[in-house]
Amino acid sequence: MSRYTHEELSGLIRDAHAPQDAKAAFRRIIYDHYKKHGRALPWRNAPTPYEVFVSEIMLQQTQVERVVNKFPTFLARFPDFRALADSTAGEVVAAWQGMGYNRRALSLHRAAKIIVEKHGGALPIHIEELEALPGIGKATARSIAAFAFNEPVVFIETNIRSVFIHFFFPGAENVPDAEILPLVERTLDRKNPSRWYNALMDYGVMLKKENANPSRKSAAYRPQAPFKNSRRQKRGRILARLVESGPLGIAGAAALLGVDIETAGGLLDELEREGFIRKKGRAYVLS
Ligand code: ADE
Repeated sequence: MSRYTHEELSGLIRDAHAPQDAKAAFRRIIYDHYKKHGRALPWRNAPTPYEVFVSEIMLQQTQVERVVNKFPTFLARFPDFRALADSTAGEVVAAWQGMGYNRRALSLHRAAKIIVEKHGGALPIHIEELEALPGIGKATARSIAAFAFNEPVVFIETNIRSVFIHFFFPGAENVPDAEILPLVERTLDRKNPSRWYNALMDYGVMLKKENANPSRKSAAYRPQAPFKNSRRQKRGRILARLVESGPLGIAGAAALLGVDIETAGGLLDELEREGFIRKKGRAYVLS
């Protein structure tokens, strides 16, 4: 047991000169929970850099339960960066069905090609090289570095944000990530960043189950845009149809979606420009 109460810990650690034993006591709380209630997730047991890369892109915008189901089949279909790079974009989009936000499938495919062509098929370890890959922002580059290479990097993700708001900003509204990041840095377990970030995420998941989601108090909080009747939904339905039953013309797309020809043409154009589909005769097929 720590000699500090949670309130004392919170106050001490908010100070840049927080004593080591306070930081250790905070980590102990998180790790104790992890030991008892840590989730066994398929990308957690000694993952290869490829497994980390695929899972982090999936987890950007898809719930853990869905990723748990898709991850093994996706890996069986594309076992490494080379297998992904040697496939067509359409094959990757097809395997991505059910995950939503299909642009990530295209980014993943493009990233695999770059990793094969520029990095000899091995995921680069440097943050700048990771960030230069399609679909990889600042936070994902760092989560990948932490989980694939056990690098002591600092990043925030939604569950991690929940933990820090819960402990260090109780009752506050609109906490900017810029105020949270120094605390993430200060409390990081530099000996085992991968284990630490997994433990933080699981603690955040527990908090969300027990309380109203503390991330709502973050300045970065954005509820996901409504999906029903959205452009994203229409685009998704076109791609799902192409995966299911092959070539689709403008009239077919219009009938599928219950929209006019012009709207259907606009959607198909857009998907073509982005690299999802290409013209074949008078119809469209997956790229
Ligand atoms: N969200 C983002 N990365 C994650 C991970 N590695 N495990 C669980 N949830 C996550």
